[in-house]
Amino acid sequence: MTDQDEPVITVIGLDGEGLGEHAAAALARATCVVGSERHLDSVALPDGARRIPMTNLAAAVDELFASAGPAAVLASGDPGFFGIVRALRARGARPRVIPAVSSIATAFARIGLPWDDAVVVSAHGRADQGRSARRALAAALAHPKAAVLTAPGATAPAAFLPELLRAGREVYVAQRLGARDEAVTRVTDAAAAAADDWAFPNVVLAVAPERSVASAMTWMPGHQGAPEGWALPEGQFEHRRSMITKSEVRAVALARLAPRPGTVVWDVGAGSGSVAVECARFGAHAVAFERNSGDCERVRANARAWGVSVEVREGRVPEVLDEQAGPVPPDAVFFGGGDEAAIAGTLRRHRPERVVAALASVDRVRPTRDTLLAHGYTAEGTQLQASRLADLPNGSLRLAAANPVTLVWGVQGRGADE
Ligand SMILES: C[S@@+](CC[C@H](N)C(=O)[O-])C[C@H]1O[C@@H](n2cnc3c(N)ncnc32)[C@H](O)[C@@H]1O
Repeated sequence: MTDQDEPVITVIGLDGEGLGEHAAAALARATCVVGSERHLDSVALPDGARRIPMTNLAAAVDELFASAGPAAVLASGDPGFFGIVRALRARGARPRVIPAVSSIATAFARIGLPWDDAVVVSAHGRADQGRSARRALAAALAHPKAAVLTAPGATAPAAFLPELLRAGREVYVAQRLGARDEAVTRVTDAAAAAADDWAFPNVVLAVAPERSVASAMTWMPGHQGAPEGWALPEGQFEHRRSMITKSEVRAVALARLAPRPGTVVWDVGAGSGSVAVECARFGAHAVAFERNSGDCERVRANARAWGVSVEVREGRVPEVLDEQAGPVPPDAVFFGGGDEAAIAGTLRRHRPERVVAALASVDRVRPTRDTLLAHGYTAEGTQLQASRLADLPNGSLRLAAANPVTLVWGVQGRGADE
């Protein structure tokens, strides 16, 4: 705070390295000190200062505001990074901030890797812990280098480690960084991944071994945003006898699927996996379901060629969905292949927010629409028929017609149920 009559709040970041000169001076002046028990115990409080444990953020901030003299807030790492500074500013305070090293920076330093190419996700989420964990996991699975800020309960390391390990990542749990009992543990087996005895606080790191250091320096941390190009030409994918969703159809399908970091998109009847690859390029965690093993190989090759990770599940949908270690539930599902049973079976087991089906057969349009409505989805559709420019031998142009395709799509919760 800058006004003379307002108490000054100094937010002091802690990283176990001891207080710097300015932080020590601000703490010494404080008449009240707010922080977690762990942080309050880690420093010598000035004589006579009120000690306010932060069990409830709003109540602690109330007490802070009621304080007559200068106040100090103790927080972990850089308090401006997923920390208390946001809440204080939201309440109108203008705190002075003295940051320490963020837990993410320290964790990557401990394993000796740069982290400007990492995606950093917070799994903290008061309202919907399950969704926060799923979103964080999806972002971590889609990116070659990720750090997850965890919390006890639904967003503890066990919510992330098994899937990250299965996806071939090198995974670490960096516990109590800066404390005397700090431990950075590499997790290599499924039993350890499922354990729930990690010391808190901790962060999870996940690194794709072959891309632990990006080949070129990125200019922006994390996912780089929309890809350079999308609705890519069919020629840019390996495919079997044109078993690939054409680029014009793919463009509309992608728009309806809305792939982005933190989402999981399934590509059912993936064929070449072009839809899955494009969703992964947008930052989604993509899962391709395909019963033909040759096509599964092609999906893997296409993902490799485009430098993205796509999880490939060989088998028939919906039966393959009942495998023990099932894939992460979807936010959106694209049906490029498969029949009505695949759609109905998927919607019976999961409630993706968005569903898109590409249908070559007109006979399937009504049943697909009815299946969406019966499961409580909206149902809209459009027929797409592109004619591409082509050359005639005499040098003039013609329009080469592609087969029409009907796209049927729906959004959860606004269908016939209402
Ligand atoms: C609200 S965030 C605060 C992040 C903090 N501002 C920073 O820069 O590190 C809290 C989370 O940070 C991580 N964290 C904070 N201190 C840590 C520590 N000493 N060791 C490991 N992780 C820590 C944990 O994931 C914890 O749940």
